[in-house]
Amino acid sequence: MTANTNMIGLKEKGSNELGAKLNELLANFQIHYQNLRAVHWNIRGRDFFDLHVKFEEYYTEAQLSIDEVAERILTLEVVPLHTFADYQDNSSIPVAKNLFSSEECVNIVVTGFQSLIKLEREVINLAGQLGDEGTIDMLGSYVANHEKHVWMLNAWLGKPKKS
Ligand SMILES: [Fe+2]
Repeated sequence: MTANTNMIGLKEKGSNELGAKLNELLANFQIHYQNLRAVHWNIRGRDFFDLHVKFEEYYTEAQLSIDEVAERILTLEVVPLHTFADYQDNSSIPVAKNLFSSEECVNIVVTGFQSLIKLEREVINLAGQLGDEGTIDMLGSYVANHEKHVWMLNAWLGKPKKS
């Protein structure tokens, strides 16, 4: 590899910036993951069986993505955030504390997915500038998936189309 490039041939400076952005995504993903566990446990009421299972499906999926994001960060030769304190400090997703009703549980999950989509688009944009197809490919599937979750959860909430 030439000077100023890392082991996968990408510019070091750009890779470090992308790694930092991916770390922000990782932190948000971890808070979202813990929110999903919280609502999986705390959900009450007539929707319990539906939502308990649905939230488990989401956190199982998130767990896999989180590991992929951390390992992508390492592939870019950056250290992934790995403490609860760092996740809290670097996430903007609200924490799901003492949420029990179906609507408030679904709402916070939607907010989480929406925040992740926004960050994922920012990561894709940055990766594009760096010519990092590997990250773009990985993140593209997350965006589409999370967008679909937002649509379905909004349908569950009975939210109409804006137009
Ligand atoms: Fe469980």
